Amino acid sequence: MLRRLHPEQPENFTFTAANRQWAEAQITKYPEGRQASAVIPLLWRAQEQEGWLSRPAIESVADMLGMAYIRVLEVASFYFMFQLQPVGSVAHIQVCGTTSCMICGAEDLIAVCKDKIAAKPHALSADGKLSWEEVECLGSCTNAPMAQIGKDYYEDLTAEGFGKIIDDLAAGKVPTPGPQNGRYAAEPLKGLTSLTEYDSGRTQYNASVQLATDLGDTVKRIDGTEVPILTPWLGNDGKAAATKAAPNPPKAPAPAKPAVKQAAEAKAVKEDQPDTLSDARDGKSDDLKLLKGVGPKLEKTLNELGFYHYDQIAKWTPEQVAWVDARLKFKGRIERDGWIDQATKLAAGEETEFAKRAKDDGTYED
Ligand code: FES
Repeated sequence: MLRRLHPEQPENFTFTAANRQWAEAQITKYPEGRQASAVIPLLWRAQEQEGWLSRPAIESVADMLGMAYIRVLEVASFYFMFQLQPVGSVAHIQVCGTTSCMICGAEDLIAVCKDKIAAKPHALSADGKLSWEEVECLGSCTNAPMAQIGKDYYEDLTAEGFGKIIDDLAAGKVPTPGPQNGRYAAEPLKGLTSLTEYDSGRTQYNASVQLATDLGDTVKRIDGTEVPILTPWLGNDGKAAATKAAPNPPKAPAPAKPAVKQAAEAKAVKEDQPDTLSDARDGKSDDLKLLKGVGPKLEKTLNELGFYHYDQIAKWTPEQVAWVDARLKFKGRIERDGWIDQATKLAAGEETEFAKRAKDDGTYED
């Protein structure tokens, strides 16, 4: 397959401030004169930010690392994980077409992609939200056929179920990744035949899916706010390293931020502490894990902050959301997962789709 720069390119590329800080901290991992070793992480971060690698992005990374543009283009065009053309704004779907998956129905999945997304791979759907491609074995052959969407695997797929996943993505929903046939992980289809004692005490989903669900980042791209920018090897939070590694400011002036983004940032600065409780009313807290994106650890954190009930969360103002968000390890999930809407429904005794699924699964008890 020929891998070339896309014929239509944006004017420029600029890392967001947080991503640039992250990228500069990565460069400090390598000894003087070996900064080029950071080329893959930096290209990946650029792709995570934009969805694909444009020529300005490749050149920007080359400038940061003191590399010739052609050297960085060689890396970007060699590895198939780098997308050299625009991908769907919501998700790029990678369907495994290798032996196990092909035998188990990968061709049916590809037919679904052609029907629902675009007739050809690497083309955008009519609404620009989705794109697809066939890839080689993704190492999940036991759960064939499967597809990678965003950062996660959707396994044990059928054409019908896969079509529903695509419809959900197009509708702005985030389908739960992992096996889609009720399997927990990669155990035998008929259930465990050995090591059965390890079947107890497990989380709602297998470890990968549980983490993806807890983080809420299944089809979300990295914008630099998800994880602390740590440089533990330097014993600091990355800021000093970033300053040290960034003698040159970015060449291109940062483009004007969209009004929505400016408003969001202004809102994030203004914080207002919501009313909190020292303990649950009547000693019985609501099951906050029924909020999508809240796992046991986050529920504990919320309780420690003084939140035990859906009606407390339902009342948060944007400023109060900012206050809570500033105290959570992974930022932005309150708005991203729609906690306020979910909490409002649950407080009113209504059901949410996620809560119903969690209860049906039997993991959570009221
Ligand atoms: S053949 Fe599809 S994951 Fe291995």
